[in-house]
Amino acid sequence: MNYSNQKIIVTGGLGYIGSHTVIELCAKGFKVIIVDDLSNSSLKILNGINDITNTELIFEKIDLKNKELVKNLFTKHKDVTGLIHFAASKYVGESIDNPIKYYENNLNSLINILDELKNLGTKINFIFSSSCTVYGEAKNFPITEQESVKKAESPYGNTKQICEEIIEDFIKSYGNIKAISLRYFNPVGAHESGKIGELPSGKPQNLVPLITQTAIGKFKELIVHGNNYPTVDGTCIRDYIHVVDLSKSHLKSLTKLIDEKNNLHYDVFNVGTGKGSSVFEVISSFERITKMKLNYRIGPKRNGDVIKAFACTKKANEILKWKAELSLDQALLSAWEWQKKNN
Ligand code: NAD
Ligand code: WQD
Repeated sequence: MNYSNQKIIVTGGLGYIGSHTVIELCAKGFKVIIVDDLSNSSLKILNGINDITNTELIFEKIDLKNKELVKNLFTKHKDVTGLIHFAASKYVGESIDNPIKYYENNLNSLINILDELKNLGTKINFIFSSSCTVYGEAKNFPITEQESVKKAESPYGNTKQICEEIIEDFIKSYGNIKAISLRYFNPVGAHESGKIGELPSGKPQNLVPLITQTAIGKFKELIVHGNNYPTVDGTCIRDYIHVVDLSKSHLKSLTKLIDEKNNLHYDVFNVGTGKGSSVFEVISSFERITKMKLNYRIGPKRNGDVIKAFACTKKANEILKWKAELSLDQALLSAWEWQKKNN
């Protein structure tokens, strides 16, 4: 199928996962409109995307919480066939300190968008960034999409659960929208060009940027949050997925919705590698590939950390025809290359 006449809006398209996905969309011929308010990104990423794709991209600097601006966006771009909604506030800890910010941004942005999409009257294919955080401490491993959704541990996690429900309700009421929610496990790494990657503002909260920023000397040491969990080496287990693999799952989801004329209206998919790695395994992998010694020490457990989370990816493999291909080593190496370029 030729997608070159299809216009796709990518909200949060200058963010970490959004920017990598824009590259994949351009490679497939889609016409991309990036919407971002730069609250957690920068125009440096837009330059990086332009360099990599050599394509003319439309960028709209819009705060999606603003209903009027969202209305104007869709007046200008009535002829979109798809929207990938990455834009959200994403820090678990910050959401506990400032829940209003999370409910205001994550819920209002989604509602403002869906409200306009329903009015377009044309068929719209919608992809939503959800998270494995909806499973909380799972009972069965690997985690399938059948695992129950637990009461969220944080306002951030709760916004993902509520957003999934809002989308499902919209799909039932408005026949022109079809949607897929992708539940990401732990995205890591950066584009091989070294031109785009994760740009956390302030101190990062996630393991891999903390490792690379410690290795480069920004921080004295990495604190490993607990080493007496009931796991192979006492540290928590996660499913770390290369951001490039993750980005490709959006392409597969979008084209699935576009190509399947009637069958699929709403579904959820796990996006992970299927393999769990402990914190110590990530550290030793980083040390091995960079031939560096990381300065770390064991500290107290972090509130709200689940012991283990890794995905069953069978559903995405079979229905979306998508599978993660890159290794943890490749992801860590790309994260390190990105860190060195952006010190
Ligand atoms: P990110 O912060 O790098 O990207 C989000 C982008 O959205 C940023 O560029 C930010 O400026 C923009 N944005 C935020 N609020 C906006 C608003 N009101 N209007 C317009 N733009 C706005 O985050 P990311 O890591 O790329 O995550 C993308 C999505 O995936 C988020 O919805 C996040 O919750 C979800 N997710 C992320 C992870 C992860 O570990 N990175 C895991 C699971 C799910
Ligand atoms: C990974 C492992 C930590 C920092 C979070 C969100 C989740 C999703 C992905 C958005 C854990 C350990 C970390 C450190 C450490 N985001 N760690 N020292 O917590 O699995 O998931 O990001 O949806 O919702 O909760 O990712 O990278 O923060 O932690 O030992 O300084 O690294 O305890 O075991 P997490 P993470």
